[in-house]
Amino acid sequence: MSEEKARIAVIGLGNAGLPLAAVIADSGIDVIGVDINEGRCQLINQGKNPIPEEEGLEELIGLHGGKRLIATSRFIDARDCRNYIVIVPLFVDPSNNPDFTIMEKALQSLGRILKKGDLVVLETTFPPGTTDNKVRRWLCQSSGLKEEDFFLAYSPERIMTGYSISRLRDFPKVIGGTDEESGFRAYQVYKQFISNLHLVSSARVAEMIKVMEGCYRDVNIALANELFKICEEMGIDFSEAREYANHKFCNIHLPSTGVGGHCIPVYPWFLIKEMEKREHFDKCRLLHTSRLVNDEMIQYWAEKILLECMKFDKPLSLVKICIKGITFREGVKEFYHSRNLALAKLLADKGLDVYVADPILSEEDVRGKGLRYLKAVDADLVFDPFELKFEVSGRTTRSGALP
Ligand SMILES: NC(=O)c1ccc[n+]([C@@H]2O[C@H](COP(=O)([O-])OP(=O)(O)OC[C@H]3O[C@@H](n4cnc5c(N)ncnc54)[C@H](O)[C@@H]3O)[C@@H](O)[C@H]2O)c1
Repeated sequence: MSEEKARIAVIGLGNAGLPLAAVIADSGIDVIGVDINEGRCQLINQGKNPIPEEEGLEELIGLHGGKRLIATSRFIDARDCRNYIVIVPLFVDPSNNPDFTIMEKALQSLGRILKKGDLVVLETTFPPGTTDNKVRRWLCQSSGLKEEDFFLAYSPERIMTGYSISRLRDFPKVIGGTDEESGFRAYQVYKQFISNLHLVSSARVAEMIKVMEGCYRDVNIALANELFKICEEMGIDFSEAREYANHKFCNIHLPSTGVGGHCIPVYPWFLIKEMEKREHFDKCRLLHTSRLVNDEMIQYWAEKILLECMKFDKPLSLVKICIKGITFREGVKEFYHSRNLALAKLLADKGLDVYVADPILSEEDVRGKGLRYLKAVDADLVFDPFELKFEVSGRTTRSGALP
């Protein structure tokens, strides 16, 4: 068996790591998945899919779980692998600085089984330069190896929750090494299971590609939100204007209650914080402002909801308001940085009679988030944060509505 065809270890079998491990296994390569969550490992080894909302994953885990894809909570079980892929989370702390705690721990564990000549590829989204600096340092410290003893590369995960398998199969994926040989070696390994693969000049470029994408989305959503507010203020139909404004060179996004999830609201901070550290505040003004514009959208919608409530012939505190959805994105049961959840809480903090209804959430799910459940038909006023529409007694109102 060639070095490249050798077994691959995937560290972190979460929403991103598990689909990747399953796709690798499906390409005919044996995979050892390492995850500290023992329950999840057991499920996978029984051929059971722990992420039912991920299209196509059920079939792959059923086929390969416990066979070509073996999950374990012990790093030592992966000691015979030559190729390691790491995809554990990286969050930002309350001051929006990257928090490497989980990553450092995983790399310390990996370092203890790392051998001369092994390849390590990072997939977690990083501030550019992280693989070259922190990752290399932690791996050297924990393994006792010198930096030239192992190969190190970076390839950003570009999946979208729910569509990960098809994204891995079709969407262009980039990979870059911390040196030429690492890049080349990583490319050879990944080429076996990623068909649309592009080798870029360095790990730093590969890191920047993913962060750039997040920044583009955030800034463009902020622009759409600002144009929407201006249109509303001036009595102009935003949707009609947007429809005809958009063409090959102009892509005005849709307005929203802000930007949620693990990715888009987080990645601009990687660059903002780096520029702030270098005291180059002028270089990240647009990114910073866009973050604020998007985060402040919940105040804008709260005010609009309040104005709608004032149209009822009863005290404000007695108007039953139903927010139709508190997840960060429609149809995805995730709440990280959810602006819809933040909006519901903001209204409750203002003393309003707020409830939640969501087709993918149970009453228990809603209560678990500190909110109350109510069927939309039983509310006086319904606000749909995904469609940005109001309903009063089952009728959609024009105010704030997008056709
Ligand atoms: N989920 C997505 O849609 C998505 C999209 C693009 C990029 N990403 C990137 O992937 C990263 C991971 O995201 P995710 O959604 O898979 O997170 P997740 O929380 O779903 O999964 C992370 C997994 O890592 C495991 N883990 C934590 N510490 C570990 C350790 N020391 N050793 C082994 N396993 C450990 C956890 O038990 C968990 O199963 C994100 O930080 C992001 O950079 C995710």
